[in-house]
Amino acid sequence: MARFDPQELEKFWREQNPRRRALRARIDEMRLPCAVAIENLSKEMNLGNLIRTANAFLCGEIVLIGSEAFDATGSGQIHRFERMRHFPDGDAFEAYARQAGYTIIAVEIGGRAELLPRFRHPQKPLFVLGSELYGLSDELTARADRQVMIPQYGLIPCLNVNVSCSIVLYDYVTRVHPELAPAPVEGAKYKLDPGSGQSG
Ligand SMILES: C[S@@+](CC[C@H](N)C(=O)[O-])C[C@H]1O[C@@H](n2cnc3c(N)ncnc32)[C@H](O)[C@@H]1O
Repeated sequence: MARFDPQELEKFWREQNPRRRALRARIDEMRLPCAVAIENLSKEMNLGNLIRTANAFLCGEIVLIGSEAFDATGSGQIHRFERMRHFPDGDAFEAYARQAGYTIIAVEIGGRAELLPRFRHPQKPLFVLGSELYGLSDELTARADRQVMIPQYGLIPCLNVNVSCSIVLYDYVTRVHPELAPAPVEGAKYKLDPGSGQSG
């Protein structure tokens, strides 16, 4: 099981070759001004998968609130390329989000939520998602400037947290940044850069 560890990450990057470091710098330059935050995810695989999603959509950073363990298999080992932060609680999280100029968006089902298809994304959104067991806490929902929900049509009461994150980021990227050209494709996958450490 992996854990967010800034010192280990710094050491890892010191030991990487210049080509790999250049790849990380290139990806960092392309990053979008959005971010995702996750409150106390309990299933490490979900957080691993969510890190993978954030990478696919060039999310600016991933903010962990409370729990910080994740499954590096779920992340496809891409977590080392991601910008991550960890805060122990809502106070520290909100202080950072305000100082960084984010608009905090609670991604949660609820009465005051706007529906995603009609949602006008702000310049610098920070999408906050809740845990699998308890959803987003009332405390964090109250700290949010706005709330958005994904319309559902079937019987299931809610979506998986990474699925929700994927839908929201996809909506943000395609509607707010239509100028972004998708990465090149090779066969049935996006083309691998050898420096990414990914295997097919
Ligand atoms: C599995 S759900 C939480 C279920 C939890 N047992 C509850 O009762 O609230 C995990 C997270 O995914 C997000 N989510 C799931 N479905 C959603 C939807 N339709 N719209 C917006 N967010 C959703 C929310 O952030 C939620 O906290």
